[in-house]
Amino acid sequence: MLRSVYINGRYLPGGRPHLEVEDRGFLFADSLYEVWMVYHGGLVEQADHLARLDRSLAAVGMPPLAHGPLLAVIRETLRRNRVANGMVYLQVTRGVAPRDHAFPPKGTPPGLVVMAKPVDFAALAQRAATGVAAHLVPEVRWSRRTIKTTALLPAVLAKQAAREAGAYEGWFVTPEGRVTEGASTNAWMVDATGTLVTHPADGDILHGVTRAGVLRVAHTLRIPVREVAFTVDDLTRAAEAFMSSATAVIMPVTSVSGIGIEGSHTIGEGRPGAVTQALRHAYFTSLERGADPG
Ligand code: PDD
Repeated sequence: MLRSVYINGRYLPGGRPHLEVEDRGFLFADSLYEVWMVYHGGLVEQADHLARLDRSLAAVGMPPLAHGPLLAVIRETLRRNRVANGMVYLQVTRGVAPRDHAFPPKGTPPGLVVMAKPVDFAALAQRAATGVAAHLVPEVRWSRRTIKTTALLPAVLAKQAAREAGAYEGWFVTPEGRVTEGASTNAWMVDATGTLVTHPADGDILHGVTRAGVLRVAHTLRIPVREVAFTVDDLTRAAEAFMSSATAVIMPVTSVSGIGIEGSHTIGEGRPGAVTQALRHAYFTSLERGADPG
């Protein structure tokens, strides 16, 4: 259980109800979020996540939030929860107001929630050593996917469908057969020539901060990259595949099932590939050095 949760100016013990029912985050999912990986006490890619939060706020007409006080709350939440390796979740809502779809009066204070919890990186590494399965599901989300909104019902359903299929993550596939991204991760493959392929950072995906880190590491390792959408067909011919996010980091995908695939298809040799492992290793090495990847 969470020890301490920051809610609207107070640090409260976890496990007690303390959100207003009329919070627009609860009523309308009129709310945004960010997730940081915390590694050796540091916020990984701190600035890039804050920059994406700024973009999300601007995109939905919420006022900007000063970074200094936000970071102070994050650090205090980490301290109170004794998290040195784990994750931080931050959520901003448009505040509390009588239920009406249109924005509340100007000056309504935003809601702010910050939670932190430890992550077992050794267990994550073990999972990464064998790889996981991805399950292909129909892309049913809205068209403004660059906004990191808590309106995540399509992602919830995708992840559940994946779990029911015995997979770790759901990957969205458009009616044309293009893989966009995962329910909560970006999707990658390595083709037969050793080129790293991932969907371009356009309006169809969330611009993952880890995605940008992987691209920087790939550049350092001189791995060729193509930022183009790959199809289910491409995926069945892929030598390797993986997903990236602040919490899964770089997680090898060793089999796929779902849309356009009969039963289950093994990726490459059915174990984490050399390119994926090199990227994962280089990414973590850069974190060990205390530097941003790349
Ligand atoms: N998810 N795509 C989607 C749809 C996501 O929700 C996420 C992050 C990513 C990866 O972004 P990043 O590398 O910045 O974490 C891609 C977070 C971790 C979550 O929902 O918990």
